[in-house]
Amino acid sequence: MLTSYLACTKFRYFIWGVTSSTATVALTLVVIAVISGTTLASGINDAGKFLTAANDTTPPTSCVTSSVGSAEALVSNLFAAINTAKCELTNASQWPADFADEALSEGLQKYDFVIVGAGTAGSVVASRLTENPRIKVLLLEAGGDPPIESEIFTMSSTLHHSAYTWTDFGEPNPNCCQGMQQRRCYWPRGKMLGGSSSMSGSIFLLGNKEDFDRWRLLGCNKWSWEEMKFLYEKALKASQHEVVDKPVGAIVLNHFDPLEQHKELAQLVFNASSELGLRYISNLADGTSVGYTDAIPANIEKGRRMSVAKTYLGQVSRSRPNLHVIKNALVTKILFSSDNSRAMGVEFILRNRHRLKAAATSEVLVAAGAINSPKLLLQSGIGPSEHLKALNIKQVADLPVGNNLHDHGMLPLILRFESEFSVPPSMGEPQSVADYFLRQIGPLAASISIMGFINTNTSSSSQYPDLHLVSHTIVPTGNADSFKFLQLRDEIVAGISRAAGNQSLLQIYGSLLRPSSRGKVRLRSADPQAPPLIYNNYASERADQLTLLRNVRFVQRMCTTAAFRNYGLQLLHVPIEECDQLPYDSDDYWICYIKYLYIGAWHPVGTCRMGADTDSHAVVDQRLRVRGVDRLRVVDASIMPEISSGNTNGPTTLIAEKATIMIEDDWKTKLA
Ligand SMILES: Cc1cc2nc3c(=O)[nH]c(=O)nc-3n(C[C@H](O)[C@H](O)[C@H](O)COP(=O)(O)OP(=O)(O)OC[C@H]3O[C@@H](n4cnc5c(N)ncnc54)[C@H](O)[C@@H]3O)c2cc1C
Ligand SMILES: *[C@@H]1O[C@H](CO)[C@@H](O)[C@H](O)[C@H]1NC(C)=O
Ligand SMILES: *[C@@H]1O[C@H](CO)[C@@H](O)[C@H](O)[C@H]1NC(C)=O
Ligand SMILES: *[C@@H]1O[C@H](CO)[C@@H](O)[C@H](O)[C@H]1NC(C)=O
Ligand SMILES: *[C@@H]1O[C@H](CO)[C@@H](O)[C@H](O)[C@H]1NC(C)=O
Repeated sequence: MLTSYLACTKFRYFIWGVTSSTATVALTLVVIAVISGTTLASGINDAGKFLTAANDTTPPTSCVTSSVGSAEALVSNLFAAINTAKCELTNASQWPADFADEALSEGLQKYDFVIVGAGTAGSVVASRLTENPRIKVLLLEAGGDPPIESEIFTMSSTLHHSAYTWTDFGEPNPNCCQGMQQRRCYWPRGKMLGGSSSMSGSIFLLGNKEDFDRWRLLGCNKWSWEEMKFLYEKALKASQHEVVDKPVGAIVLNHFDPLEQHKELAQLVFNASSELGLRYISNLADGTSVGYTDAIPANIEKGRRMSVAKTYLGQVSRSRPNLHVIKNALVTKILFSSDNSRAMGVEFILRNRHRLKAAATSEVLVAAGAINSPKLLLQSGIGPSEHLKALNIKQVADLPVGNNLHDHGMLPLILRFESEFSVPPSMGEPQSVADYFLRQIGPLAASISIMGFINTNTSSSSQYPDLHLVSHTIVPTGNADSFKFLQLRDEIVAGISRAAGNQSLLQIYGSLLRPSSRGKVRLRSADPQAPPLIYNNYASERADQLTLLRNVRFVQRMCTTAAFRNYGLQLLHVPIEECDQLPYDSDDYWICYIKYLYIGAWHPVGTCRMGADTDSHAVVDQRLRVRGVDRLRVVDASIMPEISSGNTNGPTTLIAEKATIMIEDDWKTKLA
């Protein structure tokens, strides 16, 4: 027993750290809730501190207890039980085996398909294609297995600056993200199996019906809401009919499980929204439409993350000899035939050291996400010719790769309570830790996510919302430091803290469901290991600024409801020197506030835009084939011509499902 407890020495410190946390470790994890994109632990002084603090704590000197041994055994039993539970959480056999060593010793065979990136889309396509034992697939992923903080989905915010993340910043732009560290937007994405879905808030939405009907209007007539619903039902059904000997991966969905203490908050928000005439949405699978809800489907089960890397990929990979996964493989280039007419394979760097090539006899499928997919195409000679010329990259095709970058963005608004409010127990409490590891309950397993979908256009009765209100989380007294998690500058955080005084805060974030501003991705240099150039233009379009302004006015209307007035909730005046030159609460004041605090929502899309053959803005056609090059497809969030009205992981999963059907169809003669 003691041996297994000592087996994980790191864990030992963790437990000691938490045990002594009440006295020695400044660990105040109080409210945990899921916001637009991430799981936000408000109250974490600094996301990174959670682990550092726990690890640095030296074990307490053993106390002098007279014991005949049986009581000591009970304590050891508890440690051992928690340790076993922890080892189960990080059990490597839930992930695919790594084929890297074999690849190094025996070389690589030819595959039908080589897939770049085991994120949301790559995991789905690899799993689906290899249901056919005749199809041989190689899946290359730049990262490795997700860490335990990915499993414990309530801790995922601690991954935002870690080795499991692509930590790219936007280029400086005086018109956005001015309130963020270095005055630059931050674009974290997952670098591990599951990609961004391994560090996400796990929310699974389809979007609004009209989103996909708009794609059709843009010339993509194979895509529609009906089609998305069909793919969704198919993916869900698969999990219901799962048989043990022939596992098929699929989407696992459950609702977030709130704690008792979360319920007052939900009541408060629903009381206010119903006073404003907004209905409760009970089924988001019918598509997001105007209203408020806390019935949010999420890829979680018993307090654990159920990313597609686990459900689609991990569950099946070990029984599929036709699927090889190589981890820590950074793809640097797509290889083409000598006349540049078709893709033949890829070049990659394994474990930062070995340069290897992999051949694809059918296709190369690029699923590296909305920042890295365009980056890889550019590195390989597919992109705007003047950009490639400037970097001396030999042109393969002249396409608008990297354009049309957009994201929902988030505008935090902060409200101050004048009276006490229920606060859930801290995640760092020994009780919370024991509850999670031994029973998968408590603050580390629970969360609440409250969302509003609003049509801010008062002269329209359309059910197509343009604003997503997310977060609605409490920041308990004295915890304004949690705003650092959003990468806000220290002086802004200190200002919020001062303005909060001794009161708790309520934060409500506004996201644009249909932003009109667009940015772009370009290469910094021809070196494939250099980070990309990301040009942000958050809210550069007047239309976006006006919708965000209507967001502010909507939240102010919430403050006039009896529900909010009962708690004295009012917008907090966040001190920002430049904006404070303007009359407080004027439209101009808020436009200035937007320039400082409208920040990324971690939903990049659009950079390898899909479109009709006649569409000069399109990079891929409706079957996701790169235009002008054979045997190359992009399958991920970058193909969205316009972002969906809701978090993007769901639609990306379904894009990959549809891609698989099209790929199988296109290759049915060869692969029959
Ligand atoms: C912090 C955060 C929170 C989020 N929360 C939510 C949420 O709650 N709900 C929701 O719906 N959406 C959420 N999202 C968005 C969602 O996760 C993404 O839209 C989705 O994962 C995109 O899938 P993808 O396949 O396009 O890219 P990704 O999932 O990012 O996958 C790309 C993969 O390719 C790999 N890769 C990249 N370049 C290379 C290369 N050169 N060689 C090899 N491999 C490479 C990456 O390491 C990664 O594994 C969140 C995103 C983030 C970052
Ligand atoms: C890991 O998971 C596998 C399969 O899910 C299971 O058979 C095994 O017992 C687990 N190992 C540990 C240490 O939990
Ligand atoms: C919400 O409204 C109900 C019914 O009016 C009331 O009983 C409850 O106290 C309210 N709760 C909050 C938090 O406003
Ligand atoms: C608001 O809706 C009306 C009626 O549908 C429409 O004419 C108008 O253009 C919309 N305004 C904005 C800003 O979208
Ligand atoms: C906050 O509370 C403390 C102790 O209750 C009190 O001394 C202090 O004056 C209060 N500060 C403000 C700004 O209200």
